[in-house]
Amino acid sequence: MIEKVHIPPIKIQGIKTKIVPLIAELERCEEEGTWYEPFMGSGVVGLNLAPKHAVFSDTNPYVIELYKQIKEDKINSYVVREFLEYEGEQLALKDEEHYYYIRDRFNESHNPLDFLFLNRSCFNGMIRFNKNYKFNVPYGHKPQRFAKAYVTKIVNQVRFLENKIRDKDWQFLCQEFSDTIDMAKDNDFIYCDPPYIGRHVDYYDSWDEEHELKLRDRLYTTGAKFILSTWDHNQYRKNEYIDSIWGECYKVTKEHFYHVGAKETNRNSMIEALLMNYNPNETECVEKTGQLSFQDILRKAE
Ligand SMILES: C[S@@+](CC[C@H](N)C(=O)[O-])C[C@H]1O[C@@H](n2cnc3c(N)ncnc32)[C@H](O)[C@@H]1O
Repeated sequence: MIEKVHIPPIKIQGIKTKIVPLIAELERCEEEGTWYEPFMGSGVVGLNLAPKHAVFSDTNPYVIELYKQIKEDKINSYVVREFLEYEGEQLALKDEEHYYYIRDRFNESHNPLDFLFLNRSCFNGMIRFNKNYKFNVPYGHKPQRFAKAYVTKIVNQVRFLENKIRDKDWQFLCQEFSDTIDMAKDNDFIYCDPPYIGRHVDYYDSWDEEHELKLRDRLYTTGAKFILSTWDHNQYRKNEYIDSIWGECYKVTKEHFYHVGAKETNRNSMIEALLMNYNPNETECVEKTGQLSFQDILRKAE
């Protein structure tokens, strides 16, 4: 059982922090198999599961470059502290003028440290690019953003990352999900967390039915075991693609609460689904797409 989930330095919409313990109970990566994570995002899942061999990939080149440079010790927690303290002071003095200066600089030179700065000071920690692949998220309007305690928090997150990824047989690749899935062999394991189909997405590549079908076809031809994260339903809608595209899979669900705006009353619930091409509950016969609850799974793991 995972006792504490460590958070990496990159913020991303749809981060799976809350769901890591459940994935840890359900995954079946063999000791000598490779963990493939083709939609890495922040990488919070694989980083906490810490498999022996892993390939993390994403089409966002900037997250990949940041993680690669941390792995190669070109960037470390000391460098990050110095950088954020300096740029944070400039932000406190010049406010949004400095944010947009860094944004322009990043869009020219793609420095991973600038990317980290933007990710932690932009509006809502969003990652969004325009059609020309320019980062276009506006300022979060907090000139004191990089106060001492916040810099220390980010530095600790970078330290966690460097301790995790150095000296490990882990690769970070910038590529399409299909290229990563094609690398997997029978005894490997694939965890997929694509942008959620049928919901608003902020990634520069939108995600539609064609992508979802391509993902299914690729996953079904590998022979590897997989878990796919998707949404199941909320109070208004149900994800129809679970039946139409993923009807062959086993499903486990978990309720997730999130806030829209600042008010407590705007607390909405969404049921998340984990779909698998194997029965995670070997001791019991679970019907395909039959639901197990989060509690059931954790109880069985005790
Ligand atoms: C929901 S996020 C993953 C979040 C991640 N599991 C976490 O917990 O941080 C989806 C990711 O898929 C990436 N992505 C979008 N389209 C992609 C594609 N065609 N191939 C590979 N990655 C893609 C996005 O850049 C984004 O990082």
